[in-house]
Amino acid sequence: MHLELKEITKRFPGVLANDRISISVDRGQVLGLLGENGAGKTTLMNILSGLYRPDSGQILIDDKMRTFDDPAEAISAGVGMIHQHFQLVPVFDVTEAVALGAETTTGPLRTFDRATARQRVAELSEQYNLHVNPDSRIEDLPVGVRQRVEILKALYRKSDILVLDEPSAVLTPFETEELFGIIRGLADGGTTIIFITHKLNEVLEVADHITVLRRGTVAGSADPKTTSREQLANLMVGRDVELSVAKKPSTPADVVLSLKDLFVRDDRGHMAVKGISLDVRAGETVAIAGVQGNGQTELVEAITGLRAADSGTILISGVDVSHATPRRVSDLGVAHIPEDRNRDGLISQMTVAENYILDAYHREPYSKNLVFHPEAVRQRAENGVQDFDIRTPSIDTVAGSLSGGNQQKVIVAREFSFPVKLVIAAQPTRGLDVGSIEYIHRRIVEQRDAGAAILMVSTELEEVLAVGDRVAVMFAGEIVGIVEGAEQTFENVGMLMGGHVG
Ligand SMILES: Nc1ncnc2c1ncn2[C@@H]1O[C@H](COP(=O)(O)OP(=O)(O)OP(=O)(O)O)[C@@H](O)[C@H]1O
Ligand SMILES: [Mg+2]
Repeated sequence: MHLELKEITKRFPGVLANDRISISVDRGQVLGLLGENGAGKTTLMNILSGLYRPDSGQILIDDKMRTFDDPAEAISAGVGMIHQHFQLVPVFDVTEAVALGAETTTGPLRTFDRATARQRVAELSEQYNLHVNPDSRIEDLPVGVRQRVEILKALYRKSDILVLDEPSAVLTPFETEELFGIIRGLADGGTTIIFITHKLNEVLEVADHITVLRRGTVAGSADPKTTSREQLANLMVGRDVELSVAKKPSTPADVVLSLKDLFVRDDRGHMAVKGISLDVRAGETVAIAGVQGNGQTELVEAITGLRAADSGTILISGVDVSHATPRRVSDLGVAHIPEDRNRDGLISQMTVAENYILDAYHREPYSKNLVFHPEAVRQRAENGVQDFDIRTPSIDTVAGSLSGGNQQKVIVAREFSFPVKLVIAAQPTRGLDVGSIEYIHRRIVEQRDAGAAILMVSTELEEVLAVGDRVAVMFAGEIVGIVEGAEQTFENVGMLMGGHVG
């Protein structure tokens, strides 16, 4: 179907999130929607999918004006949306997750007709090459497959227009390639697709047309066949962006973090980290590369006190923290940028300023001689918002109402607001726009140059190569290789990531 959004305007308290935005997509086309953090992408798509009502403006589907009072109305008009943070009920199986809520009921009591639903799920999975087993339990599925379940859900509801909000942020490169194949297949079959991403190479690969938003308005459009990453970056943030990282060679000093023979179990009790030994010195950045799910999450949780180590030791500046609490670890001068910001990083019901004191209210200058100084907190929060260009109406805005990328920036700003000896950064730029990535990379290098030891975990190969002074590759719970200098190449790290040693 042809989709047109005309002059859409949406205001939130203190923010004009969408300011007369117009976009249009033809049947069977993929529109890449780009824009810096807080530009208004998710808001616009939430309007299209019936979650919000626009203050003004129109939604036209095949030239007919539509208004949606809720998501169910948008779904019945053929609009399916896969959200930035999607949620499937873990205890459901695939058939239930896909079919429940849609009208597959039979008989006078309108009970759930499982057999029919299961068959349709299987057929759709087959037809669109989704490789999803209708009987699998959601909680047993890797994130890439869960995402395909979300796509199934949209197909099951006969979506002619499909919106994917940053679908690749948590996918492995292989899963992303698969997803692109699925998107192309759907578009060839006539589905109209809007694809939001911050990864410029992806949008160049998959989109037929690109629209860029900036500060709630359309900043411009581009043709993927003729534009470049540099041009897109410029259009997004309104200036040239350094897509590489400038840094001097490292000057490693004393060991700050020392891991010896570390074993850590995952939630299910399986050994996820299998005998890792690694030293990170002051003044160097060690980047841990690897495909998601090779023990990196458990490794970081163990170091930061969120998960108990099974055996082995973790020393920070010589202090054994193998069984320390997160607060104790942080008081040793450790900054932690957590992988899951919604679980470990921010309390979304609290304001930006309140999030600054979560683990730090007892520290100077916030507390002095048992007296709490709220103005010190406010000052640092204000500085953070300034320095990191956090798009928020004020420091008294609740963190949960910020855009995904701006929530991530609040965490980084807070963690860097105290002097640190060690930085543990897990996927520090996930979900961030190119301008913010540039800034955060620069701040990490600054911390290193000021003498902090940095352990960065990232699944983004480009980031690992650009920021790391040494790259340690994790595979199946072990470090299968450490490369540096001339050895630190795309090919070498890529090979190790796939488990090909030597
Ligand atoms: N429910 C809400 N309440 C208040 N403000 C909101 C709400 N949702 C979004 N906003 C604000 O609207 C603006 C646009 O946010 P939006 O989530 O659309 O950005 P985005 O382009 O998706 O950014 P990102 O790339 O970081 O996901 C932001 O300033 C955000 O703080
Ligand atoms: Mg968003």
